[in-house]
Amino acid sequence: MGLPHVSNQHMPLPEVRAAADYEALAHLRLHPEAWDYLSQGAGTGRTLAANRRAFEQAVLVPRVLADVRGGHTRVTLFGQPLAHPILLAPLAYQRWFHPHGEQASVLAAACQGTLAVVSSLASQPLEDIAAVVQTGQPRPWFQLYWLGEREPTAQLLARAEAAGYGAVVFTVDVPVKSASARLPAGVDAVNLPHPIAAAAIPEGGSAVFDGWMTRAPTWDDLVWLRAHTRLPLLIKGVLHPDDAERALDCGADGVIVSNHGGRSLDGAPASLDALPLVVARLAGRAPILFDGGIRSGADVLVALTRGADAVLIGRPYVWGLAVAGAMGAAHVLRLLRDELELAMALTGRRHLQA
Ligand code: FNR
Repeated sequence: MGLPHVSNQHMPLPEVRAAADYEALAHLRLHPEAWDYLSQGAGTGRTLAANRRAFEQAVLVPRVLADVRGGHTRVTLFGQPLAHPILLAPLAYQRWFHPHGEQASVLAAACQGTLAVVSSLASQPLEDIAAVVQTGQPRPWFQLYWLGEREPTAQLLARAEAAGYGAVVFTVDVPVKSASARLPAGVDAVNLPHPIAAAAIPEGGSAVFDGWMTRAPTWDDLVWLRAHTRLPLLIKGVLHPDDAERALDCGADGVIVSNHGGRSLDGAPASLDALPLVVARLAGRAPILFDGGIRSGADVLVALTRGADAVLIGRPYVWGLAVAGAMGAAHVLRLLRDELELAMALTGRRHLQA
């Protein structure tokens, strides 16, 4: 790269020069089972690989001699000003990766002028996690999984609202979530009331259609959910433009184009390939966020140039978390922002507004 790196001068890990450098360090640091849980994709890993391949094939065309003095990466999402458009994606069981868990991630995001989305499967109490954010810093958002039926889902949502979360991210691409990972002692989904009870399957019935899909949410439940919260409501895990449009018709305030980091339907398209179709269909009706495969600031810019208003990162900040707790996750964010600024400057962009 043509410009000097500035971000690692004061950091404890001089060998880290790019956000992606944390991956190898995290691999060394984590227990093999934690590493596998973090890294794996569904099935044969086709979609996981597709997410990366899409970015590897994407290009940014340099623009020269542009005057970008005074440039910045600031954006505003649902009225919340952010220093840059890089959010932390919801990721379960973070005390498996570092003893400070979700609190460390939320702190890292707040200190870097952005926000984290806290999973329903967080390993610390929602209230304790939200408490690390100080007045004036962006509030974390809450990621909601459907808890099998309306009443327990409403109770969990009410708890998140009372704890001060700033928006609800309803994840719909993993319709039924049970705590299936083999977790070490002391790491658990502490905010869930109890495991979702499996439905009794009738004689000759299907374990999928008559079993666990009877616990999954539908469009009617989205309408119900909309009526149950005044917070901004985003739908995470949308890849088809029809679904994105219908989510807005049901009252959602935004969508997150995502394939769950390649962990749900193996064979789903790369999120980056799905993004322009959703962008074209929604035509500016609502904010569109994106995740899946971002590993550098140039990747962030690629997603933004294809129409995302902001992006989320999953695995990369957990690499930082695993290596150095809140400091590591914050460093990953800072490096990505520096890389984004450099990519903006080299493509002649002073700011991120279209
Ligand atoms: C996830 N993801 C996820 N999403 C969600 O809505 N709730 C959750 O609890 C989790 N948990 C989770 C655990 C692990 C180990 C991973 C890797 C991912 C999906 C996550 O929010 C995001 O969509 C992807 O991680 C984005 O892809 P990258 O950035 O990891 O490539």
